[in-house]
Amino acid sequence: MDFKKYYEDRQKLVNTFLEKRTSRKGISKVDEAMEYSLLAGGKRIRPIILMATVDAVGGNGYDYLSLACGIEMIHTYSLIHDDLPCMDDDDYRRGRLTNHKVYGEAMALLAGDALLTLAFEVMLEQKNVAPTVLIDSVREVAMCAGNFGMVGGQVLDLESEGKTITPDELRTLHAGKTGALFIASVRCGAYMGGASDDQLLALTKYADLLGLAFQITDDILDVTGTTEELGKPVHSDEKNDKSTYVSLYTLEGAEKLAEKTVAEALECLDMFGEKAEPLREITKMLTTRKK
Ligand code: IPE
Ligand code: IPE
Ligand code: MG
Ligand code: MG
Ligand code: MG
Repeated sequence: MDFKKYYEDRQKLVNTFLEKRTSRKGISKVDEAMEYSLLAGGKRIRPIILMATVDAVGGNGYDYLSLACGIEMIHTYSLIHDDLPCMDDDDYRRGRLTNHKVYGEAMALLAGDALLTLAFEVMLEQKNVAPTVLIDSVREVAMCAGNFGMVGGQVLDLESEGKTITPDELRTLHAGKTGALFIASVRCGAYMGGASDDQLLALTKYADLLGLAFQITDDILDVTGTTEELGKPVHSDEKNDKSTYVSLYTLEGAEKLAEKTVAEALECLDMFGEKAEPLREITKMLTTRKK
């Protein structure tokens, strides 16, 4: 398959949807701050994974852009807050100055809040799905984004600064801050495509491993990447004395673990045959990505 085209087509669709959906303006200039970060590019990997999962179980991912783009809005809010001085204190994101550097801390905080809220509005606009299935799916996204998932993981991440934590603690931290939104994306895709219980089980395990491999690679790129390619500062983790896969396992150890995790993730897709080819390509892309 032409994976490059598959990915770029969906990336364009996501970008167009986000542009259109944010063209309706609210009552203040928070809209400008929201758009500044949301429309700044980004890989759009979470919405594309959602769509590729629908494809893997025999549906059409193109039909679920609202749900997919809602998750991208949650992700973008998490980045705006992650960069704040009280969190990682970083100056660049997606190739431009961070939100608070341009609009100030209060506006960045509120732009994040508004994106998180808009995400639920947009997800609930999803058509082509039975209302009960949509309610269950959005409820899962909420759980994955909050204190049981991403926010919980971000707290563990902050608490890990300047400490040596155990491998199990690091795994829990990564599963929360990054894994949870991958699980939400994949499980929503599975629900939209009408996955069987067996398929849902395999896909959930896949998503957990995918999220882990993704964050291990993020930790590696913080050490080996370049600001130009990543569009965000390198050595941010070292600056904040974070617990990462590199700090705990060394660079070589982290690279080995990422490869092992990707191999395990791929095994979970065995039962899906040809239709899971896009998901397989996305998974392989993770350990070779430069941004
Ligand atoms: C960065 O996410 C934050 C992590 C969870 C590692 P991405 O690497 O997906 O960032 P964008 O969306 O492409 O900017
Ligand atoms: C952030 O992890 C995960 C989020 C929930 C945003 P990082 O702090 O490592 O992400 P980057 O490296 O700043 O993108
Ligand atoms: Mg962080
Ligand atoms: Mg950060
Ligand atoms: Mg990082």
